[in-house]
Amino acid sequence: MKIFLDTADLVEIRWAVDANLIDGITTNPSLLSKAAGEAGDPRDILAEICRTVEGPVSAEVVATTTEEMLREGRDLAKIAENIVIKVPLTEEGLHACRRFRSEGIKVNVTLCFSPTQALFAAKAGATFVSPFVGRVDDVAGDGMELVRQILEIYDNYEYETEVLVASVRHPRHMVEAALMGADIATIPPKVLHQLLEHPLTEKGLDAFLADWAKLPKERRAI
Ligand code: E4P
Repeated sequence: MKIFLDTADLVEIRWAVDANLIDGITTNPSLLSKAAGEAGDPRDILAEICRTVEGPVSAEVVATTTEEMLREGRDLAKIAENIVIKVPLTEEGLHACRRFRSEGIKVNVTLCFSPTQALFAAKAGATFVSPFVGRVDDVAGDGMELVRQILEIYDNYEYETEVLVASVRHPRHMVEAALMGADIATIPPKVLHQLLEHPLTEKGLDAFLADWAKLPKERRAI
């Protein structure tokens, strides 16, 4: 299973890359706008992310018409070879997806909230489809059930589009995504930190070290 980090925060990205924990990055207009603050240039941030991470880096268009998405996406794709263009799961986004794919540009079709939307994304040749599990849960739906259905449909017809579980809010989403065999989960830095921690690991390590410290100093080296 691949793990992407869902952020444009370069401090968190550098930490996760140095620790060899991630395989790619997803950004969105909200995350890039936050990282750019009052004076930063989102394009410069994307370029630096692409230099820092070897794997795919999703950069989202903000246009809403197909032609504008194509213009914006082609321009974003020039930033680096590992850029993946993110388009919304709208009729216009699906048109743009087909055109990008015919030009050899990878596409992440985002804002997916139903299995039939995901079917259309696969038929449009999407490289990745992003079901937003947390936002489905927010409206009393079942985000992980959506992922299960998409995986089953893709399996039935052997679509190559990878299922990228997005809007992950807590470690349980990650566990379920892995159990279902989702190709990728993109997780915010907070959840990545949570996944690395376990109170029993901390407690167990403290106990081992305390017991070891009881040995006379000259016999502690092994
Ligand atoms: C995915 O690509 C999106 O950037 C992200 O997962 C959205 O998550 P949110 O619903 O927590 O904003």
